[in-house]
Amino acid sequence: MKKYTKVFQGTAFSSKSPKEVEILKDYLFCINEEGMIEKTVAPGTDEYQTLLNSYEGNENFHRLAEGQYFLPGFVDLHVHAPQWAQSGTALDIPLYDWLNTYTFPIESKFSNLDFAKNVYEDVVNTLLANGTTTALYFATVHKEASLLLAQICAEKGQRGLVGKVVMDNPDQNPEYYRDADTETALADTEEFILAVKQLAKSVKQGVYPVVTPRFIPSCTNDALKGLGELAAKHDTYIQSHCSESDWEHGYVQDRFDKNDAFALHDFGLLREKSVMAHCNFLNDDDAELFAETGTAVCHCPISNAYFANSVIPIAHLHSKGVEIGLGSDISGGFSPSLFDNARQAVMSSRMLEDGVNTALPAEERGVPNSRITINEAFYLATAGGGEGLSLPIGRLAENYVWDAQIIDTSLPSAKLPIYEENEALHDIFQKIMYLSRPENIREVWVQGEKVHSRI
Ligand code: GUN
Ligand code: FE
Repeated sequence: MKKYTKVFQGTAFSSKSPKEVEILKDYLFCINEEGMIEKTVAPGTDEYQTLLNSYEGNENFHRLAEGQYFLPGFVDLHVHAPQWAQSGTALDIPLYDWLNTYTFPIESKFSNLDFAKNVYEDVVNTLLANGTTTALYFATVHKEASLLLAQICAEKGQRGLVGKVVMDNPDQNPEYYRDADTETALADTEEFILAVKQLAKSVKQGVYPVVTPRFIPSCTNDALKGLGELAAKHDTYIQSHCSESDWEHGYVQDRFDKNDAFALHDFGLLREKSVMAHCNFLNDDDAELFAETGTAVCHCPISNAYFANSVIPIAHLHSKGVEIGLGSDISGGFSPSLFDNARQAVMSSRMLEDGVNTALPAEERGVPNSRITINEAFYLATAGGGEGLSLPIGRLAENYVWDAQIIDTSLPSAKLPIYEENEALHDIFQKIMYLSRPENIREVWVQGEKVHSRI
């Protein structure tokens, strides 16, 4: 019989499609040396019994206790790691003022590697404790501190995709916090890419460099063009903010006489490995361009409620074939939890559909067919993010990576309201999605290794 490095037994929830959650009741998950799920086995088969006979009782056999369930690890497609230092503050002012008054000053402090280490260790630990096994990070303009973030992800076992942020436009960025000039910005980015690729050679779960123009206003045309070329040359991921706020969207219209999507495309910045945050103002042409180029949207529902005053039409974008994942946007979004963001995604979509302007007659409020279900929000936080990154993550299924959270619904200190024997598993899934707190996340695994435990 094939030798597996680990075998897990228990009930799991995993997205089958954006709308459907598959319930794998009491399955066996057989993990190989690479940390991949090589085989899933349903109960009641001969193979199941044979596997149980040979693995049960071994130290590499893990059976869930009563009240515990597997979920895939979350994929956070948009986190500003340095902004963890200001999470929860200053959310009452517009984006432009927030950036200049609060965010650029705090990010400028990451020239100090001791400060950077404190914040980056905390944010990676916090995200892991919230079930986030893969994170797509913006760091700061500083090459060394950005590399430190990639090293910390590597050490702590998180799959980190990290970008050194490019901000070379002297008209839009303060002198104390920007790249020295365009040439330096591009040279630092290339050195950063090579250094992370070197680091990645010894990291089981993977770390990846990400070409990161902060957003169009912060970059010169030469930088945007150079970054598109670097991404193609080194076949890297690309991330940026796209059509986020009225102010930013209007700025790009004034500068290029087109929407962000087409402007970014002109510079080679929309491709299969691109993830664009927010995208509140995509029109249908923009959405089609995203679908054609394989560019994914990162939905940041908490942040959008504050900075964009907007609810992105997720259901409409899905109908256009655009890939969509979920992002916390720390600290534009205050919560490090994708559970919280999934809940907000559902609530925001309901407000969009049912209307919020009660001064209007009911039939004139809102946008029909906008609502998404908790199943769809779960998909965004898991499989949708994995598809956006073109990685085999976000599902508990064969040929996916074993990135998993063990949710404990029966802890005395954080008990979920499950009372009936044999309660329907889909109801338990919904209770987990709506009510879990970090206390309920008992263990977190990445690429077959345990990276967080509450016990
Ligand atoms: N646009 C440019 N920079 C930022 C940022 O740090 N956060 C958000 N939400 N939007 C941005
Ligand atoms: Fe952001």
